Amino acid sequence: MSPQAAVAAGCSLSSGFNVSRVRGDFPALDQLVHGRPLVYLDNAATTQKPRVVLDALFNFYTRDCANVHRGVHELSRRATEAYEGARRTVARFLNAAPHEIVFTRGATEAINLAAQAFARSILREGDEILLTELEHHSNIVPWQLLAEQTGARLVVAPINDRGELLMEELERRLSPRTRLIAVAHVSNALGTINPVAEICRMARARGIRVLVDGAQAAPHVRIDVRALDCDFYAFSGHKLYGPTGIGVLYGKAELLERMPPYQGGGDMIRSVSFEKTLFNDPPYRFEAGTPHIAGAIGLAAAIEYLTGLGLDEIARHEYELLSAATRALSEIPGVRLVGTASHKAAVLSFVLDGIHPHDVATVLDHEGVAVRAGHHCAQPLMERLGLPATTRASFALYNTLEEVEVLARAVRRARELFG
Ligand code: ALA
Repeated sequence: MSPQAAVAAGCSLSSGFNVSRVRGDFPALDQLVHGRPLVYLDNAATTQKPRVVLDALFNFYTRDCANVHRGVHELSRRATEAYEGARRTVARFLNAAPHEIVFTRGATEAINLAAQAFARSILREGDEILLTELEHHSNIVPWQLLAEQTGARLVVAPINDRGELLMEELERRLSPRTRLIAVAHVSNALGTINPVAEICRMARARGIRVLVDGAQAAPHVRIDVRALDCDFYAFSGHKLYGPTGIGVLYGKAELLERMPPYQGGGDMIRSVSFEKTLFNDPPYRFEAGTPHIAGAIGLAAAIEYLTGLGLDEIARHEYELLSAATRALSEIPGVRLVGTASHKAAVLSFVLDGIHPHDVATVLDHEGVAVRAGHHCAQPLMERLGLPATTRASFALYNTLEEVEVLARAVRRARELFG
């Protein structure tokens, strides 16, 4: 097929990935916004959901709705089977074991869990937690709270102007007091893919624990926690085409075993008396109360959908979108791309000379193009870059090259209106 024919057939040029067919799986994409076809480019904030995920939620609530691990009746058996099946699906996705998968409310709760149930017990006054300049607030504030509780201190590894981690500087900041590194796999604001495998190797050689915040990586990058050899890996379901309110903490079995509970309640115990409570094994020890059963089942449906399409196909398609968008926006006078790392996921932050990012996003919205503008919950990063905010377009597997053109036209329009 010629490149022109491939575009006409809705195929991505390099991969044969049929984006037209894929778009048919996402009901929310088929709508007008302000009278224009929706061009949804706010995928780093949350993704739209394929019908298989919506069906999984519908089927759970209309057929199998019951609590898990508790009832002897048929519906409870089905709910438990589906919930534990979801855990196995997530484990396969990460190359982990099912008992290393804890369901949480999201990546944020997963990081807080690791901070409070694991890191709190290993930190002493004067110990150090190493973060990087490009972290999301959810991978800064939990460690700040922990530092206040333990007397530990935060050390921050710098980035260069392209938004890449300075690895020599990072290494220089590792000291005999460094106990933990908490690092984003992919930056939500810039799209930089960090060399987390190298960071894990450095940490391992020094006996330092590593938590990887994979919230932005899970939709774009193949994850293998065994190959990475990280201690913890956190991600959320809703950025991965799954429901909101569900996330995952992967923890190495030997660490989860040693960790005290994070919250107390039902299902996380073996026995309770007023004198003493014996706790359940991981992962149940960390899932107090009724979990988000439907959310876990919906997340598993999303993962199965993605793996069915092919993670490498998706990555190739998104790379093509990012390359096209980078080219198209670079050609617009007054546009400055923010975050030009050589290794990037499909996130494109930019500023337009003399026009506030919120105004750019408002013009884009009127053209039907949904993007995010602001500090992206990464205020220290914005400060490092000397910017109050950026406009951010973030791509997903269902976006098209035509949508990239609509984005570029809308940015030109913003320039005409405000320039
Ligand atoms: N963390 C999400 C974002 O980057 C909400 O937009």
